Amino acid sequence: MAELDGKNVLITGGGSGIGLATARQLVRSGARVALAGRDGDRLAAAEKSLDAGDQVLTVPTDVSSGADLDRLVSRIREQFGQLDGVFANAGVGLVAPGAVVGEADFERVVGTNFKGAFFTVQKTAPLLRDGASVVLNSSWTVHRGLGLGSLYSASKAAVLNLARTFASELAGRGIRVNAITPGHVTTDMLDAVTGGSEQVREMFRSEVVLGRFGSPDDIADAVLFLLSSRASYITGQELVVDGGLVHSVPMPPQAA
Ligand SMILES: NC(=O)c1ccc[n+]([C@@H]2O[C@H](COP(=O)([O-])OP(=O)(O)OC[C@H]3O[C@@H](n4cnc5c(N)ncnc54)[C@H](OP(=O)(O)O)[C@@H]3O)[C@@H](O)[C@H]2O)c1
Repeated sequence: MAELDGKNVLITGGGSGIGLATARQLVRSGARVALAGRDGDRLAAAEKSLDAGDQVLTVPTDVSSGADLDRLVSRIREQFGQLDGVFANAGVGLVAPGAVVGEADFERVVGTNFKGAFFTVQKTAPLLRDGASVVLNSSWTVHRGLGLGSLYSASKAAVLNLARTFASELAGRGIRVNAITPGHVTTDMLDAVTGGSEQVREMFRSEVVLGRFGSPDDIADAVLFLLSSRASYITGQELVVDGGLVHSVPMPPQAA
């Protein structure tokens, strides 16, 4: 996308899945990307696979740690100066009934998904150029009561709400803030949620009107759109990227 040529974008959770697919598309568009994640080996592998020299900066970071985010911001300031975009994408799942969720689970899921997204935006805001774009990764689960997903879904509902409030707070600088709500996307996280069960995968897939899981690139396409100037009049919004999972019901087989 030509609009992103020469832009600087931070992607948290950039070492795998949706974050890495987004990084690949951005690099191809001529952008420079900073990738943040906890696992340094995973980031190094991602950097190698992108094969884009100094277009890629990797910074081991735990987004639930304010000190780590401060270090990340310093590295980006040194290497890139300013940012044109942030994709707050880092997240963790939890499949567990509410009855057994412990305090450590709560700290981990809320600390990464909600606190992480909140402070990623707060701490990178001074680096954002006027007119920059922020995209937060929420989830389709904010719209449906997914049993075994209470904590994860609530943390992602908080993320969706942040897009609306930060859109208001940052509008004075022309900075847009939006959220995406992906459906089922073929990444490590989906494998973890389905537990490798073909039966569960088929149950999930059968609810998708388009009849297939999303690919990381399907989601990256939407993120690049929101980061680009083509979305220049869109802020405080949710872009549902789910193949029709949330708002439509598949036709019965005999009628399709
Ligand atoms: N896949 C789906 O079906 C789906 C659907 C809706 C929403 N989402 C959301 O999409 C986002 C990306 O997930 P994915 O599907 O691409 O799965 P993924 O491959 O597991 O990606 C999650 C990424 O987040 C990073 N991460 C986790 N905890 C972190 C922390 N505390 N600090 C920094 N980075 C952290 C992980 O890297 P490290 O482990 O190295 O830190 C990993 O690279 C998540 O927010 C997820 O909730 C996914």
